[in-house]
Amino acid sequence: MAIYINEEPKEFHLQTDVSSYIFKVMKNNQLGQLYYGKKIRHRPSFSHLFQSRFRSNVVNVFPDDTTFSLGTQMQEYPAYGTGDFRYPAYAIRQENGSRITQFEFKSYRVIEGKPKLEGLPSTYVASDDEAMTLDILLSDDRLHIDLHLVYTVFEKYNVITRNAKFVNHGSEAVDLPVALSASVDLPDDDFVMMQLSGSWARERHLYERKLQPGVQSISSTRTASSAQQNPFIALRRPDTNENLGSVYGFSLVYSGNFLAQVEVDDYHISRVTMGINPFDFNWRLSPGDGFQTPEVVMVFSDRGLTGMSQTYQTLYRERLASGTWRDRERPVLINNWEGTYFDFNEEKIVTMARQAKELGAELFVLDDGWFGERDDDTTSLGDWFVDKRKLPNGLAGLSKRIRELGLDLGLWFEPEMISEKSRLYQQHPDWVIHVPGRRMSPGRNQYVLDFSRQEVVDYLYERMASAIEEASLSYIKWDMNRHITESYSAALSAEHQQELGHRYILGVYRLYEKLTSHYPNVLFESCASGGGRFDPGLLHYAPQTWTSDDTDAVERLKIQFGTSFVYPLSAIGAHVSAVPNHQASRVTPLSTRAAVAYFGVFGYELDVTSMTAEEKQAVRRQIAFFKANRRVIQFGDFYRIESPYEKDGNVTSWMVVSKDKKEALAARYQVLARPNPAIDRIRFKGLDPDKLYQLDGSDGRFYGDELMNAGLILDDLVSQDRPSEKSLDFASRLFKLTAVE
Ligand code: DGJ
Repeated sequence: MAIYINEEPKEFHLQTDVSSYIFKVMKNNQLGQLYYGKKIRHRPSFSHLFQSRFRSNVVNVFPDDTTFSLGTQMQEYPAYGTGDFRYPAYAIRQENGSRITQFEFKSYRVIEGKPKLEGLPSTYVASDDEAMTLDILLSDDRLHIDLHLVYTVFEKYNVITRNAKFVNHGSEAVDLPVALSASVDLPDDDFVMMQLSGSWARERHLYERKLQPGVQSISSTRTASSAQQNPFIALRRPDTNENLGSVYGFSLVYSGNFLAQVEVDDYHISRVTMGINPFDFNWRLSPGDGFQTPEVVMVFSDRGLTGMSQTYQTLYRERLASGTWRDRERPVLINNWEGTYFDFNEEKIVTMARQAKELGAELFVLDDGWFGERDDDTTSLGDWFVDKRKLPNGLAGLSKRIRELGLDLGLWFEPEMISEKSRLYQQHPDWVIHVPGRRMSPGRNQYVLDFSRQEVVDYLYERMASAIEEASLSYIKWDMNRHITESYSAALSAEHQQELGHRYILGVYRLYEKLTSHYPNVLFESCASGGGRFDPGLLHYAPQTWTSDDTDAVERLKIQFGTSFVYPLSAIGAHVSAVPNHQASRVTPLSTRAAVAYFGVFGYELDVTSMTAEEKQAVRRQIAFFKANRRVIQFGDFYRIESPYEKDGNVTSWMVVSKDKKEALAARYQVLARPNPAIDRIRFKGLDPDKLYQLDGSDGRFYGDELMNAGLILDDLVSQDRPSEKSLDFASRLFKLTAVE
């Protein structure tokens, strides 16, 4: 059973196979948090876990009880202004200017399965027996506003999700300047906070800090989850590592401005809050209206960081990503962007496609530059009509030729954007997010369309649907290359202006929802100048994301390693590109570039026609290798072995193991060669200790227990595809293990 309820005292115990989450109705009828952590047995009362004590320096709730203060209680969804001086989970500004509320417990409902979140992406169940949902109703009787705190327990996945919903049944309009998704108070602060931060071309690097008294947070104000911060934090115990120890993960299923914050109070309680960033946010809640927050996915693991990551990876692969492509093997693609940039025509594309097909590619993706008059990045966004100068036979003509080669066709769009030099701009200048009369700030020579407006979303749907049909597209790369400035919508009245950021993201979700439901066979890959919007929200619609514009094999180690803390390999778009690398100018061996890209959704991003015969031969082998292993890569369990963030970062290794543990693929990468090196070993993970494994390319057969404990002694790392080369810089080695008994 996933949800236990003690009726008297009123307590709720949410239990997964691994964790327990317990809270109660306190004597003021608000909710108090009792416990979150490793699973504990249920009992008729958990009153003894309620922390209350006399303190002389606090504000109390009742005159006759000096032990009960909201300022020291652990709570579920704390309010502002009634004795708790920590940051609240919500705030409601009323007509008379008051921000004081009193939400009291009214009732609860247990639902089999998991209801959908209106207008927002979320995790889901395939059948109602996969999860149970607890919907707690609290009301403010003066305002007649209901607050639903909704908890879903995925017992087997070991996940608890939370969201909140406000419904205004009263007669006055109120403002919601803060409406977070969840707040969790943990009773101590002995934690290290982990976050995935970066910038363009170096997304989702791992950073850690010991919690300190006060507020520590990450956030986005860019109306995109952003490359700078990913909507995820984890709190690990100081001695927790990959394999051992406990860690709490908090991941927000949202693609816009977010806040993830931990406030350590004066009694060392750690308050974790997560949701839409209150910065420049306000939601006007009129009578009859509701406001739904995005959901937070919470994971407690006592199997170290690997346990947390595998929980997220499995849930996100199986019950967040949706649609027909969720369980289908992803095609090996070739993308022309770095191969041609804007300089291509039909003949060039078909020649590239033909040669790529000969090497084994399955999908050709035509990137930016096929529409309007887009010869560089200064024009045409919004004019999603084929450029007949480059493609004289239209999308249909190109598609026919690509398909005759036996390849599928994919196309690039940047639907949310508009160039000033475009027909669309001339027709609908008011569709651009800007403040009338003020300067507009350009970014990559472009501006952002007002996706809060349904007619804008409808226009983009019509354009994209028409391209899908005309070109029989089987794939769309949905890019987004600048953030919103001069936030203002011509379609919103003054009191709704601070809703624009959220309404914009809801518009993006509406377009994704409509396209993916009308064209279920089209595979979407989301992208935002690389991995600038790599978040669980978009993963719901687009099961893969372009991880980073940085395709340098060395840089990718940190990016993909960091990304793997939350996201499955099936979401991590990873391509082999040409050298010198276009972002880092580094020259790495082709074999290493492939050995890194195998651990994701594999493809190429280069001009195959300019490769040597020897290189093409290597590519042919690589594609065949990936195809032979992609099931285990896409659906297996991922393990990090050696971290690029530890020691001197010179060595990284990781592996993936099939669910039945009969197959595994590991890789070890060395950035720079070192003189007179120690004799290294790789200690594999996740194997069946009792199975005998054959190591590909050797006569060696080893039991799982020895491979995981004694490890495998390594020769000097020499890239397999270039045994004649002397340099051991940027070397890599793959280990394919197959169970033989
Ligand atoms: C940014 C993307 O990340 C690239 O892959 C490419 O699609 C360009 N935009 C095209 O403008």
